[in-house]
Amino acid sequence: MTPLSSSDLLEDEDGVDYVDPGQRRPRRLTDRRLHKPKVDKWTARFSLTERPNPERDVHELILSHGLDVTSEERAYLLEQLSPFHGAKLITSVLRRVKGGKEANVYCCAAHPATGLDLIAAKVYRPREFRNLKNDSQYRQGRPLLTANGQAVSPKDWRLMKAIAGKSRKGLQATQASWVAYEFQTMKRLHDAGADVPRPIRNSEHAILMEYFGDVALAAPTLNLIALEPDEAPALFQRLLRNVELILGQHVIHGDLSAYNVLYVDGAIKIIDLPQIVDPRTNPDARAIFNRDMERVCQYFARFGVQANPRAIAHDYWKRYMTTNGEIHA
Ligand SMILES: Nc1ncnc2c1ncn2[C@@H]1O[C@H](COP(=O)(O)OP(=O)(O)O)[C@@H](O)[C@H]1O
Ligand SMILES: [Mg+2]
Repeated sequence: MTPLSSSDLLEDEDGVDYVDPGQRRPRRLTDRRLHKPKVDKWTARFSLTERPNPERDVHELILSHGLDVTSEERAYLLEQLSPFHGAKLITSVLRRVKGGKEANVYCCAAHPATGLDLIAAKVYRPREFRNLKNDSQYRQGRPLLTANGQAVSPKDWRLMKAIAGKSRKGLQATQASWVAYEFQTMKRLHDAGADVPRPIRNSEHAILMEYFGDVALAAPTLNLIALEPDEAPALFQRLLRNVELILGQHVIHGDLSAYNVLYVDGAIKIIDLPQIVDPRTNPDARAIFNRDMERVCQYFARFGVQANPRAIAHDYWKRYMTTNGEIHA
């Protein structure tokens, strides 16, 4: 396996290194085996989790020693994730997988009642939320959702005014909708058979989902690994099948790239869905779809997969249009 060199970092159309806004520049890895945990999961978990304190309320969510978070982040995590503890979904937060600008993802110990071992918690940060991903392009033509996935009526003029005025209440509603889109879409796509994590529960600021990886190390995103030439074509085809299946559900990812696809034991899982667009209602859908395909093809081209992103996008779009004629051209 060849190491990823600096020129292997994805570049956007202007020749500038493309770094997902939610990710720091990746570590370069020389070998996928580096993603194998060095200690077994129970040893790792035991070392991360605080010993039970008899004086402590056993009903409390446990934040591990290894979390290395500020007291502010601790308080925010407790506030956001305790309800999931109360709902018997998670028992402790073991480590931070990734600190993005928009959200942090944590590896949590699952509550025994779930039958799972680990659960990923994606926790959005409210204060910094607004200045980051330029979400107005994505929000075009999609109704505002409440945390439980109900569309807010545009006749709710008080709320609409709050959103337009970017008041606290308005920003809260916009963020809850952003998170709800990620959760609802994950659910819909998972049910349709797409390679996305199984969603578990959401709130206004957080999503619990199936976790990929081990306590010590989460599954890497594609940009962090160099694929073998013989596995690249099959993974590319798998990703394309997902793109088509997802489009059939009236969904365009909107930020699809090697940064938002996990490599899980030779398979893929598409993540990071809050910005999805509906091709039936978003006037920029076609351009967004083209960009998704370009980024995907750019990554696979590095491992010898020759593909024309425009032609693929055109082909999928045409087929989609044939069955959904009323959408924007
Ligand atoms: N279900 C998961 N299992 C393991 N790791 C995950 C999972 N979901 C996200 N991650 C990790 O967290 C990172 C950030 O998640 P992502 O949904 O892409 O949010 P952001 O908007 O911050 O980019 C990913 O790059 C990946 O490393
Ligand atoms: Mg991401």
